[in-house]
Amino acid sequence: MIVNKNDEIIIDIEDMGSDGEGIGKYQGYTIFVKNALVGDRIKTKLMKTKKSYGYGRLIEIIEPSPYRVTPKCPIADKCGGCSIQHLDYKRQLEYKQNKVKNCLERIGGFPVDTFSQENIMEPIIGMEEPFYYRNKAQFPVGINKDGKVVIGFYAGRTHSIIDTSHCYIQATVNDEILQRVRQFLEEYHISVYNEEKHEGLVRHILTRVGFTTEEIMVCLIVNGNELPHKEQLIESLCQIPHMTSISLNINGEKTNVILGDTIKTLWGKPYITDYIGDIKYQISPLSFYQVNPIQTRVLYETALEYAGLTGEETVWDLYCGIGTISLFLAQKAKQVYGVEIVPQAIEDARKNAEINHITNAEFYVGAAEEILPKKYKEDSVYGDVIVVDPPRKGCEESLLDTILAMAPKRIVYVSCDPATLARDLKYLCDKEYQISKIQVVDQFGHSIHVETVVLISRVER
Ligand SMILES: C[S@@+](CC[C@H](N)C(=O)[O-])C[C@H]1O[C@@H](n2cnc3c(N)ncnc32)[C@H](O)[C@@H]1O
Repeated sequence: MIVNKNDEIIIDIEDMGSDGEGIGKYQGYTIFVKNALVGDRIKTKLMKTKKSYGYGRLIEIIEPSPYRVTPKCPIADKCGGCSIQHLDYKRQLEYKQNKVKNCLERIGGFPVDTFSQENIMEPIIGMEEPFYYRNKAQFPVGINKDGKVVIGFYAGRTHSIIDTSHCYIQATVNDEILQRVRQFLEEYHISVYNEEKHEGLVRHILTRVGFTTEEIMVCLIVNGNELPHKEQLIESLCQIPHMTSISLNINGEKTNVILGDTIKTLWGKPYITDYIGDIKYQISPLSFYQVNPIQTRVLYETALEYAGLTGEETVWDLYCGIGTISLFLAQKAKQVYGVEIVPQAIEDARKNAEINHITNAEFYVGAAEEILPKKYKEDSVYGDVIVVDPPRKGCEESLLDTILAMAPKRIVYVSCDPATLARDLKYLCDKEYQISKIQVVDQFGHSIHVETVVLISRVER
């Protein structure tokens, strides 16, 4: 072996991996180093070695990358949220565009250079202001070794909580919410959750803020059924202007999943409302809602453009959440059908259609991979356009098979994971379909995550 465990070596970082780690070579041997950036010359200590590659720890930055910036956030290097805040934002965008390209090339086998030359792959759309953009936060609550309440974020890849009072990518009103909840927990000696012992009451604080309406939701996730002294918490939180919904989410399970299935409204409405474009949405604590309202509009407008609607089309919106994309499309389509697995999200979707006076959208609760094949088999349903916006794991093959059998004119794939996107595109674009357009949109500045919209068209014969 060229290198051994515990060796300290100097390398130039030439690339960045899918988790934002720096990648360099030492005499042909590849080394992955967390927190190292493309353009850095570093000293690294090898912590783990395999035959042709290894993992190193960053010991010293000998020459910093020209793309290295000082993060605004003092805990950015520890917190698991903003893993690339030390990379210049323009360069973050390049990194994300390349990440999608690499997946399309390596996993999907697509000719990405040709895609770029033929403008099939458009330049990434970045954010104008990549700070304070998130409308949703989930803060874990715990206790430190001195017995003090800690509220903040998990350190990268761990469950140890970094105490914080300000987050540079969240809505700033969270500072006051956290301060008031912290004070309440301390003053009334409310127990906080201990993961290992599965004891204690308060596990997480979920907040949501309406970007247009400014409405605020606070939901405490608890390992129990009641919150002692809840009147005092309500009184305190209600001093924050635009407070709209205060609730408890019951999660008594020994699990890493943050939310349980039951919500108890403590005060106000069981939801907040917000707008994307002209459409008003009602959002419950359990429902999925995109976290970056400004870029979501960009994303949905791209999806709408790719759907190429004239008013005559039947459209399926699979994994529809609270009907966000469905209602956007319904304005330009003849009929839209949405499918979503979370019952409460579908309740919101139906309500959202109603409050926007949209009558050409119908919603089904269930797994897309079960509902669509069943509807196709039993009712021979058809779609001119099928939109999918799955979670990170992508679509099941049984769903993709049904989509291919339904033979829509266009498929619009909205994805938050380039690897599963590339896998599914490969499956879809075998014979009958080809990629016509790809647009990468940055919804998650300073994190490694990225959103992509792809138009897949049926090949004309
Ligand atoms: C990335 S979100 C997209 C939601 C919506 N399109 C939006 O933009 O707000 C994925 C959604 O898929 C839902 N989901 C997860 N697995 C599903 C499945 N097997 N079938 C249907 N929906 C599913 C999730 O609950 C979530 O609402």
